[in-house]
Amino acid sequence: MISETSRSTSSGEPNLSPFAFLRPELDRVEKLIRAQAEDFDPAVEPYIGYILNTSGKRIRPALTFLSGGSTGEITDDHRKLAVILELIHVATLIHDDIIDGAEIRRQAPTANAKWGNALSVLLGDCLFSHALMLSTEFEDSIIGRKVAIAANEVCSGEIIQTQRRFDLQLSLEDYFDIIRKKTAALFAAAMELGARLNGQPESVCSTLREFGVHIGTAYQIYDDCIDLIGEEQEYGKTLRTDLNKGKLTLPILNLLSSANEKQREKLHRLLIQKEPIDISVLANIADYVGSIEAAVDKGQELVEAGRKCLEVLDDSDHKEALHGITDFLSVLLEGCRQ
Ligand code: IPE
Ligand code: IPE
Ligand code: MG
Ligand code: MG
Repeated sequence: MISETSRSTSSGEPNLSPFAFLRPELDRVEKLIRAQAEDFDPAVEPYIGYILNTSGKRIRPALTFLSGGSTGEITDDHRKLAVILELIHVATLIHDDIIDGAEIRRQAPTANAKWGNALSVLLGDCLFSHALMLSTEFEDSIIGRKVAIAANEVCSGEIIQTQRRFDLQLSLEDYFDIIRKKTAALFAAAMELGARLNGQPESVCSTLREFGVHIGTAYQIYDDCIDLIGEEQEYGKTLRTDLNKGKLTLPILNLLSSANEKQREKLHRLLIQKEPIDISVLANIADYVGSIEAAVDKGQELVEAGRKCLEVLDDSDHKEALHGITDFLSVLLEGCRQ
């Protein structure tokens, strides 16, 4: 599938050159993100400073700039939006790491590993409220409102996921509802609001939003495969938490649906035992490789649907870079095939 895309290099590696022109903007926002720590109470600042000084991939800021740049100029409002979305993302990661009992994030000890759960819950809250405070500064109050709605959606996704832990009745529809909320909502907000800040018509804003939903959903499918097959050192975060914490992700739902009745009974017993699960045991019961493959196929379908949304944009470097992101994600997904 990848080799079919003209934007990939001959080696099959994604062509990342479309992003180079975005570097100055990303460097600038990196400084802005890190500088946010100074705005907190002096008692809180060192904690927030530690958290904001770890380097994430800054995907949500990048999408904000690409949406802005492909629909007009990148302004200070886009920079503010980029900071806000990253802060909300970081706040959700702090809470997510508490829930998952994760010790490493972005190659560094998590807040909960360093300072315990109680303080970390409050640090996440502090970051959330700071982001929402910043979002009241836009002239168009719709922007702040939509940012708050996206933050609410992310939290709702995490809540539903937590409610449905170890729930073997979880359907594919339930799974997609969860990941659209917990992950795609911020991708969608970056794309929609980046265009809205440039006064784009509703049709463009909503099509770019749809792009964000598609690739955000595909990205979480990729992440869910990595949780099963990735190496912690490479990804810089604690992995293998999904199964042990009862999160039934797409590869596992595929495994269950492809199993016969006897295999499914065995899998059910393993999945609800609340003991660490050895993946090789799962693989001995049913078609584990095929289940990852099917998840990758679904991810690729979503990436393709995302690409179609980009037709709404006039040609530009920024549009080309959005295509570059879809190609990159496509390569990441392919890399999960075993
Ligand atoms: C991690 O997001 C959580 C998911 C949505 C899978 P990222 O992969 O964007 O994490 P950072 O920001 O680069 O650390
Ligand atoms: C994404 O889910 C977390 C949020 C969207 C808050 P995961 O639990 O899979 O993210 P990682 O794998 O810990 O980064
Ligand atoms: Mg997690
Ligand atoms: Mg994960």
